[in-house]
Amino acid sequence: MKDFAGVQVNWPRNDYSRVPYSIYHDPEIYALEQEKIFRGRCWNVLCLEAEIPNPGDFRVCHVGDTPVVVNRDDDGELYAFVNRCAHRGAEIVREPWGTAKEHTCIYHAWLYNRKGDLKGVPFRRGANGKGGMPECFDMKNHNLVKVRVTSFNGVIFGTFHHDMEPIEDYLGPLFTKHVGEMFNRPIKILGYQRQRIAANWKLYPENIKDAYHGSLLHEFNRTFGLSRLTQVAGGYMDEKHRHSILFQYKGSDSDEEALKAYIENGVKKGEIAGLNDYSMVNIIDENPFGMSTRVMNVFPNCFFHQIGNTLAMRKIRTLGVDGFELTWVLYTYADDSEEMVQHRLNQANMVGPAGLISMEDGEALEMVHRTTKSAAEDEMAVIEMGGIGSIGDRDTRVNEVTIRGFWAYYAQLMGFAPEGAEQ
Ligand code: FES
Ligand SMILES: [Fe+2]
Repeated sequence: MKDFAGVQVNWPRNDYSRVPYSIYHDPEIYALEQEKIFRGRCWNVLCLEAEIPNPGDFRVCHVGDTPVVVNRDDDGELYAFVNRCAHRGAEIVREPWGTAKEHTCIYHAWLYNRKGDLKGVPFRRGANGKGGMPECFDMKNHNLVKVRVTSFNGVIFGTFHHDMEPIEDYLGPLFTKHVGEMFNRPIKILGYQRQRIAANWKLYPENIKDAYHGSLLHEFNRTFGLSRLTQVAGGYMDEKHRHSILFQYKGSDSDEEALKAYIENGVKKGEIAGLNDYSMVNIIDENPFGMSTRVMNVFPNCFFHQIGNTLAMRKIRTLGVDGFELTWVLYTYADDSEEMVQHRLNQANMVGPAGLISMEDGEALEMVHRTTKSAAEDEMAVIEMGGIGSIGDRDTRVNEVTIRGFWAYYAQLMGFAPEGAEQ
């Protein structure tokens, strides 16, 4: 087993208001993350039940670097296994999704059922009385590595720890409420978007937890009042500070007040522009809590958004220290009118790799990754917006405390939290 004893991080402050840039670039840290986070004591999102509705349906996904296949069996039960042949390690399922009675590895045709149990080894007894497996070979000892799965309102999570707490306890009351509400009735997948971002994966949860940037980087948000620092808003966490929700209320500030505030704060491009057709930025009120937007991260790899009326689950797959893949699964409710479906699709233009808002995040992350690569060991990110010291919820978007919450839980899981850090 690899010895990670030497992997240390120099946190100069135990409230995580300084983050050493080397944490995004160190391959030893990356290897430890695979063990302690993705294969560690976490629930990772795998896919949505709506993606595998029928018996025999399967979906390939990833937990960190580890390829996983989720299957629905004849009785409707869900199973998942690592997509690595128990013979000599080949990838077994090679299509991204499909329907199958069983799975056969193409290399030497070993056959597995949907649970990942080995069911067939060609020429196990040899041929013409020669060759074959030894007498002691027992198929039962060569099943695939199983992943424990659970479904929360149709969102399928997986873990390598078979004694993990129930998903509701992992989410905690706040995220059980909000994720539960976003999936409180049958959904229909509208489509997928996928992008590769040349940045370390941790920059993505940081970005999603970053309330401050939402209207400074994203001029579209600021201009059309979808998200502004002058609005009634907040950044809340679960009690372990690992999950986060950023939310705001469109219309809780006025265009004039906002323009004045942004200009006073030196944000020059604060003019209120117009659109010929405002349907993309008009929000049909459907959030029972009144929030016009809410964006969540469920630690570590899962994200949910309701931005106006566009709904999505996003997930990340790590691709080494220098990159990750982001998949967006856009959905609508099965009982939505055709008009509402079209409205959600129209608003989906704001998100995804080329979204009027989201495209800027990919670029920002790549900029950070590129420039911090050459930083000296003592160069660090400054995370003080919203206050330093104790980590907690804030009722404002002028706030980065949720990012410190991420680092606090991350460092604790990784086993290198600084002395005196809040747990
Ligand atoms: S590697 Fe899969 S059957 Fe040999
Ligand atoms: Fe953003």
